[in-house]
Amino acid sequence: MCGIFGYVGSEKASPILCRGLQNLEYRGYDSVGIATVSGHLQIRKDVGRIGDLKTRLTLEELGGNLGIGHTRWATHGPVTPGNSHPHSDCHDKIAIIHNGIIENYLELKTKLVERGHRFSSDTDSEVIAHLIEEGLSKEGQMPGKASSWNGSSFEDACIGAFKQLRGSYAVLAVYEGEEKIVAVRKDSPLVVGICDHGTFFASDVAPILDWTKEVVYLENNDLVVADREKGVKVFDLNYREVVRPVSTVDWDIEEAKKGKFEHFMMKEISEQAETIQKACIQDMATVDRIAGMIKSGFGVFFVACGSSYHACLTGSYLFSKVAKLHVNVVLASEFENYEHFLTDKTLVFAVSQSGETADVLEAVRGAKRRDSKIVTITNVIGSSLSREADELLLMNSGPEICVLSTKTYTSQVVMMALLACALNGDDEGCVQKVKDLYMDVYNLTAKSMRDRLKDLARDLAGKDHIYMIGRGLQYTTALEAALKVKEVSYIHTEAFAGGELKHGPLALIEKGTPVFVFVSRENEDRIVSNAQEVKARGGYVIGVSDWDNPVFDRWIKVPDCGDLNPVIQAIPMQVLAYELAVKKNLDPDKPRNLAKSVTVL
Ligand code: F6R
Repeated sequence: MCGIFGYVGSEKASPILCRGLQNLEYRGYDSVGIATVSGHLQIRKDVGRIGDLKTRLTLEELGGNLGIGHTRWATHGPVTPGNSHPHSDCHDKIAIIHNGIIENYLELKTKLVERGHRFSSDTDSEVIAHLIEEGLSKEGQMPGKASSWNGSSFEDACIGAFKQLRGSYAVLAVYEGEEKIVAVRKDSPLVVGICDHGTFFASDVAPILDWTKEVVYLENNDLVVADREKGVKVFDLNYREVVRPVSTVDWDIEEAKKGKFEHFMMKEISEQAETIQKACIQDMATVDRIAGMIKSGFGVFFVACGSSYHACLTGSYLFSKVAKLHVNVVLASEFENYEHFLTDKTLVFAVSQSGETADVLEAVRGAKRRDSKIVTITNVIGSSLSREADELLLMNSGPEICVLSTKTYTSQVVMMALLACALNGDDEGCVQKVKDLYMDVYNLTAKSMRDRLKDLARDLAGKDHIYMIGRGLQYTTALEAALKVKEVSYIHTEAFAGGELKHGPLALIEKGTPVFVFVSRENEDRIVSNAQEVKARGGYVIGVSDWDNPVFDRWIKVPDCGDLNPVIQAIPMQVLAYELAVKKNLDPDKPRNLAKSVTVL
């Protein structure tokens, strides 16, 4: 969703804000804006991306040692300059940026308008600036009249405003004449970075790594005051100081850079030989404890969205096959319909790369209200889901910057396999199998494979529809492959269980319709017979398997790796999706209308 960034310290703020926003752009890229305070408040914003706007709006020329910046993913109000953040009060003295949703904004806005406030945007966020303005005018306070840490009029006005908000929010506020940023978080991510030349705020850890690895993860309703002279302190909303530990992030700065790659997507795809190994580096005592919880759980639910949901579906087949155990897999956005099954004996797995997906968080909070136990699998330590968990497993994939999940998807699949094997007391066997995949995965992202997939992408780039079929573990792989292709190439791509073709989808097959067929040894006969049905209707069959078959018009050769085929077969499809985007001159890292971390319901 939206990305927010802030800096206050000894350096000029505007170049830092521009770089921070560039690092954060994967969270949204509809519009950009920054506000700095250098005596006066200055705001510049427009529709577009930071790369273009930095020059066009001469953003780096803004003076001052403190400022806030925002990159927007539109929710309330269309993509217009006026709806871009920062938003200000009636007199352009206060600027705020916001990530989240203010649920009661209409009610607040109506009252503010009745009291004479003039709004200049359609957003839910703008009410925050006007509420702070009201707080300040009630006090009759003027800028610059701040007292010490006991609380200035500005902090009081912010607290008064924040207490009126319902919904989810991470907010940064600045006020003309004040050398400080006041921030709050509730149910939307916000991290504070600390180093000797200043304080940073960002929606994620990765964008801060250019400056510091020392971070503070905030709790709900934490108020942060970062003062240029006095440094940073955290308070509750009654202005009582609270102590939050400083953590050191163990991600490498280089992991958040493109390096020799043109796009993060290809870089992250290429990292998978390593990242699937890192997914296996777990505290085995914790893995075994979680396996025990699965066995004794009265109902086990895996809850996730998008690619993480596909990894969970893959997991459910593995649990059934390897451990002879049934688990439920539910889309997080549908989970409320299952809540009446939850008890204190139920186990809920929240699986999420970002650890911030609002649908998953809501599902977890519903489960917690019914005292169910929560296990979180995430890539982001300190994320909201990591903090809601009774047990936590980290994916260890390093930062994933491209909006599409690639390396984190295969890590999730490996972790599902690890848990399934742990249920049989064979975690070690699984770790060895993943080690054995190293060269196979490496070869799947090597140049020769990429060249073949580039050729295929050239032939498919003009198609309007692509279909994918599989059975069992190949069905869930087809679901994930179809998601990758559609979200980055904008080609309509759908996956079906092979057996379902005859129940409807066969009607879609025309002469030349491309249909990918995912094959493994165990389901070969049936899926090949489905491929024959496609071929008989003129479809163009592309096989993804260990061996060629006369029914294939094209063949993507992948090794047969048994239960780990979902890892092996997903990777060439990620590469194909990437090559399709490049062929169509699309930005693979930032597909339209999407954002990396979906923090709205
Ligand atoms: C697909 C993709 C999304 C995410 C989904 C869940 O490439 O990236 O479908 O998988 O938004 O995100 P997380 O895993 O962060 O909860």
